[in-house]
Amino acid sequence: MIEVQLLAVQAIREVFAGANLTEVLRNIWQTGSHLTPQQRGAIQDIAYGVLRHYGQLDAILHKLLNKPVQDKQLHYLLAVALYQLRYSKAPAHAIVDHAVSSSRKITRNPAVSGLVNAVLRNFMRKRTSLPDQIRNDDIARYSYPQWWIDKLRQQYPQDYEAILLAGNEHPAMILRVNRLRTSVDHYQAMLDAQNIDSEWLWDTALRLSRPVAVEKLPGFSEGLVTVQDAGAQFAAPLLDVEAGMRVLDACAAPGGKSTHLAELAENIELTVLDKQEDRLARLKENFSRLKIAGYQLVCGDAMSPSHWWDGQLYDRILADVPCSASGVISRHPDIKWLRRPEDIDHFAQTQTAILNGLWPLLQRGGKLLYVTCSVFNEENDAVADKFLTTHEDASRLPCSHGMLGRGQLLPGSHHDGFFYALFRKN
Ligand SMILES: C[S@@+](CC[C@H](N)C(=O)[O-])C[C@H]1O[C@@H](n2cnc3c(N)ncnc32)[C@H](O)[C@@H]1O
Repeated sequence: MIEVQLLAVQAIREVFAGANLTEVLRNIWQTGSHLTPQQRGAIQDIAYGVLRHYGQLDAILHKLLNKPVQDKQLHYLLAVALYQLRYSKAPAHAIVDHAVSSSRKITRNPAVSGLVNAVLRNFMRKRTSLPDQIRNDDIARYSYPQWWIDKLRQQYPQDYEAILLAGNEHPAMILRVNRLRTSVDHYQAMLDAQNIDSEWLWDTALRLSRPVAVEKLPGFSEGLVTVQDAGAQFAAPLLDVEAGMRVLDACAAPGGKSTHLAELAENIELTVLDKQEDRLARLKENFSRLKIAGYQLVCGDAMSPSHWWDGQLYDRILADVPCSASGVISRHPDIKWLRRPEDIDHFAQTQTAILNGLWPLLQRGGKLLYVTCSVFNEENDAVADKFLTTHEDASRLPCSHGMLGRGQLLPGSHHDGFFYALFRKN
């Protein structure tokens, strides 16, 4: 457990220094080829768990310590052990003993191991009363930065608490059944045969009762299913693509939504664009697993079509723009600590520039779907409203799916948070 704790500390420290958790863990796996699948699972669970509950763990630590620990590694080690004591099934004495041994790897100062032992044992004595003592502190209660809580409270006076808490849940694993290759009923029967429990949500979305490694999913390598959040599965149907249409997915990688477009209508002329070459490589893998061929792959900037556009207008455009990702916090708990308040306006500027860049490429009568996985109004309705005021030839269509309301899907137990705005060129 010592190596597990120390590698989890490394991951958390790198995230708080500005790195993305997925990449940090990828690097740890690369250098730690000796780690067993169980150890990897434990490191991942601890790193995600500590980031999910960091506001609360940090506040508890402050209550337990007379003065804050200066050494960051030691501070994160205490947070790791607190998380394990509070949320894992590992025996408490083993967690404490290993944390004491881990602290000796961090520093040779003998006083430190005594401190770690004392703090953790003190926590065990006070564990029932401590959470109540920090209830009035927003950051401790919700485990988000204060600016984030304030923004949601102001924008969603009724729903902010549910949104915050949904982001601290374990995310569901959702599949999209490839209806070109199978049916939902048939695929559910295949899952049943493997004792994988699933629930039908809507259209081709199936929710698994617990996550499964993709290699264990029947027919995954043959392209029968894709792992995709149920909220993300609204995008492609909203564009009502038909055979023969020219379709552009302008922010396409890794291809979750463009592969869905290709599954909904065969024989569309599909162009997939993305600015990042390495992400396009992942898109290619997904297209090839799903056996989708005949698409055009372009590496380019959606804001500057003159560099890559062939001059022929599109019937449909999907703009699944870069955003704060504030709607997908249950999958990426690092994001809430990495974002800064000023990032939100920067995203809104980029989003507006992408919309402005793409609009001239749309056929008259054509549709453009603007998508974010954000819950912040600045990136959603504010961008959509500004776009309408600056483009007289644009009108906003209702998003026909009942759940979407004004286009804002709030994160919940069945799906992440998304925003959809559908525009038609008049
Ligand atoms: C939200 S992700 C897209 C997810 C994708 N649509 C899917 O469903 O799998 C946004 C993508 O936009 C790309 N991107 C960011 N800025 C861009 C730009 N100016 N032009 C084109 N692509 C851009 C990023 O590289 C990233 O892959």
